[in-house]
Formats: sequence, structure tokens, C-alpha cells
Amino acid sequence: MIKQNKIVIIGAGHVGSHCAQALAMQELCGEIVLTDIDKDKAAAQAEDIVDALVYPGRSVVVRSGNLEECADAAIIIVAVGRPRKPGQTRLDMLEDSIRMIHALTEQLNFIGIGGIVITITNPADIVADYVRRRLKLERNRVFGTGTLLDTARMIRILAKECRVSPCTIQGYVLGEHGDSSMIAFSQVRIGGLDCEAYNVDKEQILEKTRSIGMDIIRGKLSTEFGIAQACAQLCRCIMKDEKRVMPLSVLLDGEYGQRGFHAGVPCLVGQGGAESVIRLSLTPGEKALFDASCKTIWQHRDKALSIVPLKTRWRG
Ligand SMILES: NC(=O)c1ccc[n+]([C@@H]2O[C@H](COP(=O)([O-])OP(=O)(O)OC[C@H]3O[C@@H](n4cnc5c(N)ncnc54)[C@H](O)[C@@H]3O)[C@@H](O)[C@H]2O)c1
Repeated sequence: MIKQNKIVIIGAGHVGSHCAQALAMQELCGEIVLTDIDKDKAAAQAEDIVDALVYPGRSVVVRSGNLEECADAAIIIVAVGRPRKPGQTRLDMLEDSIRMIHALTEQLNFIGIGGIVITITNPADIVADYVRRRLKLERNRVFGTGTLLDTARMIRILAKECRVSPCTIQGYVLGEHGDSSMIAFSQVRIGGLDCEAYNVDKEQILEKTRSIGMDIIRGKLSTEFGIAQACAQLCRCIMKDEKRVMPLSVLLDGEYGQRGFHAGVPCLVGQGGAESVIRLSLTPGEKALFDASCKTIWQHRDKALSIVPLKTRWRG
């Protein structure tokens, strides 16, 4: 029986621990369990977060536990891995991540899970696809945060450039959570206006959106606050059945002319997880950029297959 109030986070490092803290501070659930191969680290992170909840007065149980805790969790967040090093692309992490994820999903299949799985581990699109296939779950139940963080970065850059609040901007970064990501500028609205009205330098906005992650890594060797808040908002949408549209890395099944692998596209998010994919009208130029990004994902997905052969055949 699924406990609707319980979230398990696998991987209690920079990302996992910050996700736990963001969830707890917003009281988005009643129980948060941190699990890690390093049990002492998971326990210490949980204790540290519990300390932080006293003065704000948040009544959430935060503790460490075993992987078996995933069996009855409403949401499972996969944040295993290690941070990128300066100069490393997300795709450079493919081999290490796939080996970790292969071992992890073997255990999860043994335990059996009934909830929704959100993957954060990089390379995000390939790992989300790999986890979904290994767990043999429906596409609405296993997806990656994909370009959710990239979209936050794009919005804050645009907001600064146009001197408006980020809250007035709607738009999405699509494709790979990585260096081939693209912005659907034709769909961006700034206070209801087309972004042409603000005469922004699109190439510069895209370049900055792509490079912020590495700038942060160069300065502190990890990124954690942004992805934690993005993930917490995603969990909120699911727990509260908010039906917000968010860009997620889901299995494409003909949408945007692509099929059989994960890429970042806008999804309607509610208690069913990624309930449907929103089909934006991209310009021919944007479609070409999206297709090129998909090709990068495709090629690396095939590489992932050669690292650890899957019993299930890759589709597409
Ligand atoms: N998608 C995004 O937007 C985004 C943003 C930031 C980081 N990331 C990715 O998140 C991942 C984690 O980054 P981090 O900075 O937290 O790394 P980290 O090294 O700080 O933490 C990773 C944790 O995973 C644990 N771990 C490894 N294998 C495990 C397993 N099988 N079971 C349980 N725990 C296991 C490690 O012990 C470690 O504590 C990386 O792949 C990173 O690139 C993604």
C-alpha cells in the first residue's frame, strides 16, 4: 500500500540532501527518507536537516533508511552519482552513471515500487530512459527533471535582460539537459508579449542558459540549490495534483516527430506524474534545433546500451 505522504531520495549527496531540505521546508509531505550506499552520510544529512526545521517550525519527519523504503513511497527521487568536474560535460558522466543506475535498478526491481520515479542523475535524458526501461513502468511514472533547471535559468536571464519579474515569463528550454538544449523562443511570453517586443539577443540568452551550470561548478564544484527547488516544485505538482505545465524528460511517442527515447518537452503534471505531453508549435528553425538535440540524446543512448546490455531491447 502506497503512503501518499512519503518521499524517498536515493543518493544523499549535494543534490539529494538539498532536495530533502527544500521538500521539508515547504512541508510538501509528511515523511522524507534519505538513502545512500554511504549509510553514515545519509544519517548525518538527515540529522542536519532535522536541525534546520526547528526554528522555522516545520513538522516533517526526515530520516535515513534502507532502499526497501522505496516499496511504499509515493515519490522516489534518484540523485545518485557524483558532481561534474570543471570542464566535464554531462555526457562525459554517462559510463559511471549507467553502471550505478544498472545496479540500483536491479535492487529496485527486486524490492518492487508502486510510486512515481523522478530521476535527476546526469546525463539526465539517458538516465531517465534507462531507469524507465529497467523498471518496466509506464512513461507517466518514470521521467527526468530534464530541462526544468535549464528553463529556470533561461527565465531568470530573460527577466534580468528585460527588467521584469521572472514570474511574468513563460517559456521552455527543450531537448537535452545539456549542451545541445534549445529555447523555443517563438513560444516565450513576457507579460503576455512575444519576446520580439523586447529585442533580446537570443543567441546570447541561449549561450548563458547553457553555461551557467558549468560556471557554478567552476566556483563550488557542485550545483544543488537550483535543482533542489525545481525538484521540490515538481513534487508539489504531483502531491497536490496541480496540473501545471513543466518541461520534463519523458519518453517521446511521436510527439514533435520523435519516438522511443527521452527528451525535455513540456508536460502536464499532476498526481499521475507526467500525465501528458504538450505539443508546442515550433518554427521550422526551432524544430531543426530540437531534432539535432534529440540526435545527440539518441547517439548517447546507444552508447549507454553498449556499456551494460539490457535484457529489454531499446525501442526506436
Ligand atoms: N538534472 C539536473 O539538473 C542536475 C543538477 C545537478 C546535479 N545533477 C546530477 O545529480 C547527480 C548527483 O550529484 P551530486 O552533486 O549530488 O553528487 P554527490 O557525489 O554529492 O552525491 C551522490 C551520492 O550518491 C550516492 N550513491 C552512489 N551510488 C549509489 C547507489 N547505488 N545507491 C545509493 N546512493 C548512491 C553517493 O554515495 C553520494 O552520496 C550527478 O549525476 C549530477 O550530475 C543533475
